[in-house]
Amino acid sequence: MKTTLSVIKADIGSIGGHEKPSKAIVNRITEIIDSAKPLLISDYSIFSVGDDNVILMVHKNGVDNPSIHKLAWDAFTEGTKVAKSQGLYGAGQDMLINSFSGNVKGLGPGSCEMEFEERPNEPFLLFMCDKTNPGVFNLPFFRSFADPFHNAGFLLSTEIAKGFEFTIMDVTDVKNDRIIVLNAPQDYYDLATLLRDPETYVIESIRSRANGDIAVVVSTSRLHNIAGTYTGKDDPVALVRSQKSFPSTGEILSPWATAHFVAGDNRGSHHVPVMPVKLFSTISFFDGPAIVQAAGFCVHDGKLTEYVDLFDHPFWRTIQDKAARKFMDIREQGFFNPAMVGMNELEYTGVVEKIKVLNKKFKIRKKKKHTLIESS
Ligand code: 13P
Ligand code: 13P
Ligand code: MG
Ligand code: MG
Repeated sequence: MKTTLSVIKADIGSIGGHEKPSKAIVNRITEIIDSAKPLLISDYSIFSVGDDNVILMVHKNGVDNPSIHKLAWDAFTEGTKVAKSQGLYGAGQDMLINSFSGNVKGLGPGSCEMEFEERPNEPFLLFMCDKTNPGVFNLPFFRSFADPFHNAGFLLSTEIAKGFEFTIMDVTDVKNDRIIVLNAPQDYYDLATLLRDPETYVIESIRSRANGDIAVVVSTSRLHNIAGTYTGKDDPVALVRSQKSFPSTGEILSPWATAHFVAGDNRGSHHVPVMPVKLFSTISFFDGPAIVQAAGFCVHDGKLTEYVDLFDHPFWRTIQDKAARKFMDIREQGFFNPAMVGMNELEYTGVVEKIKVLNKKFKIRKKKKHTLIESS
């Protein structure tokens, strides 16, 4: 029978601003999820990333299962009660719709899920980000799943060399799941053309072209598009299977050494580098930087091993320094674009409102009529 990994995450309130959930929230979420074992879920693991709570569940019910989604929804509802009782900032921040209707999608919490036949050895990674949006995964996943500079498997493994199939979603379509399927390497430049715009086109999933197996799933929801106004950043999660017909774990981590610029950070309205950090990290300077955490697991017969903290290694200290330097560099120009994001991405309506008022005060200057002076 197939195994399903479900990751459902939400920001339901945090200590000291948008920095970290309280222990009491985490304990309440854990109580609720633990009570579903072993009947509904076979295993689970709970993390926080900045101010977001992330629940990883293992079960046999397939993706989009209403009982699994309800379980996470109930855990976040109970956690919100705790957050309110403690006076936490942004209590219930991501619980945008009051009533649950079978699936957390469109209600505020983010989710990504995959179902597969377990391999005899089944390594996978769980990525968790805070202070950014799901397009954060475009650059690193493009490189790991299409670029031999990061994935030596394209040269060394005949299976990997068959390439990968990317499903990309246009996240600006708020009514429909507008998707396109492209193959690497055949559609390499088309892929690049879309993925360069991570605010619009977001990798939703990737499959092996050697065997059709699911390799990657990303939480693609954009809170901005659900709520219509700013309620917080999406702070996405992703699951990635590694080794054999997939990139090795190291090839999946390799592109994160770029510390690439993403939209997010303070008030969700700035461009900042994403810093790879250890698990359970918090947020600091200018409500940033955007952070990414990665936990490595194996799953067998529905049971998780303990995790390995993949960015908790001396190598990443240099990258953290690099990210901090890039962050300081762009912060030096304050609110001048591209430090602040463009009009379409601005999460706060303040600027938009101000420009509406100022627009009325603009005048078109009359063109002077030039009269010809005839030379005598
Ligand atoms: P091992 O030979 O240690 O299994 O490593 C193989 C691999 O894929 C490393 O990237
Ligand atoms: P979160 O999306 O992580 O809640 O952050 C919101 C924010 O505005 C930080 O400045
Ligand atoms: Mg928050
Ligand atoms: Mg957050």
